[in-house]
Amino acid sequence: MDISIRRGTPEDAEICGKICYNAFKTISEAHGFAPDFPVVEVAIDVLTRMLANPNFYSVVAEIEGRIVGSNFLDERNTIAGVGPITVDPTVQDRAVGRRLMDAVHARASERNFAGVRLIQAGFHTRSLSLYAKLGYDVREPLACMQGKALGISIDGHVVRPATEEDVDACDRLCAQVHGHDRGGEFRDAVANDSANVVEHEGRITGYATIIGFFGHAVGEANEDVKALIGAAKEFAGPGFLLPTRNGELFRWCLNNGLRITQPMTLMSKGQYNEPAGAFLPSILY
Ligand SMILES: CC(C)(COP(=O)(O)OP(=O)(O)OC[C@H]1O[C@@H](n2cnc3c(N)ncnc32)[C@H](O)[C@@H]1OP(=O)(O)O)[C@@H](O)C(=O)NCCC(=O)NCCS
Repeated sequence: MDISIRRGTPEDAEICGKICYNAFKTISEAHGFAPDFPVVEVAIDVLTRMLANPNFYSVVAEIEGRIVGSNFLDERNTIAGVGPITVDPTVQDRAVGRRLMDAVHARASERNFAGVRLIQAGFHTRSLSLYAKLGYDVREPLACMQGKALGISIDGHVVRPATEEDVDACDRLCAQVHGHDRGGEFRDAVANDSANVVEHEGRITGYATIIGFFGHAVGEANEDVKALIGAAKEFAGPGFLLPTRNGELFRWCLNNGLRITQPMTLMSKGQYNEPAGAFLPSILY
């Protein structure tokens, strides 16, 4: 089977979106979970935006001229994010996924990223095996959390919309927690009016690009992230990703009625700093 890899273009969005939708739906339903993308249009829309965004490197795989899969590298931050990677279910388990991963790793080396990260669907034995073989280590078990907006505020913690003026403080905070900033994503979220910061004792102690599948949050302490979760009007997409080793925050979410929709795993290759604070990763890592 002759697999070729090329750069993705916006014209590939529809076919790649359909493959992405089918691949996730097939694997999720086989394990009794709801699909990550509720309808095919959402997958096409997400991939259309990624294929058109110069900050995402995209690749598609073809067999005899037919597109059979795609993969992405989020290049907005110091550490690159891998995915979503999807392969047409009719040709899975025949090395297409490995080739798509090799392609984004080659790009990450070329661009001198210190490390790469991804979020893996916890129930999926094939992706877990593939990523581990490619050098990824398991860093954090996650629970994808969903439910009604909590409408809870935390004493002494004020949540407000983020502005461009908050960029430096939020970059510093992220570097303090993760060892690197995620300024590219933060700026995008400010431009989209989705980012919030939390202030405590007169300074910024946490922020969220969005509380949801495609957003991340960091806080000096659990109370900061609780304030951000408590103020969210909804949890966008399938839910937000909660590191379950943070038992206190995990129990707080559960005790406030949130439910786990699926287990996931944060994996990384290359530089990784054990987080020094509270955080919620995004699906893009
Ligand atoms: C995950 C996915 C992208 C992988 O692509 P693929 O083309 O099916 O995978 P490949 O054939 O390249 O690689 C699978 C590897 O895992 C190995 N593998 C598969 N199941 C395994 C198992 N249960 N235990 C150990 N190894 C296993 C295979 O032997 C192969 O290893 P190799 O590269 O050393 O030969 C694809 O299956 C897919 O689209 N799945 C649905 C969507 C999805 O889950 N995406 C990833 C989100 S985290």
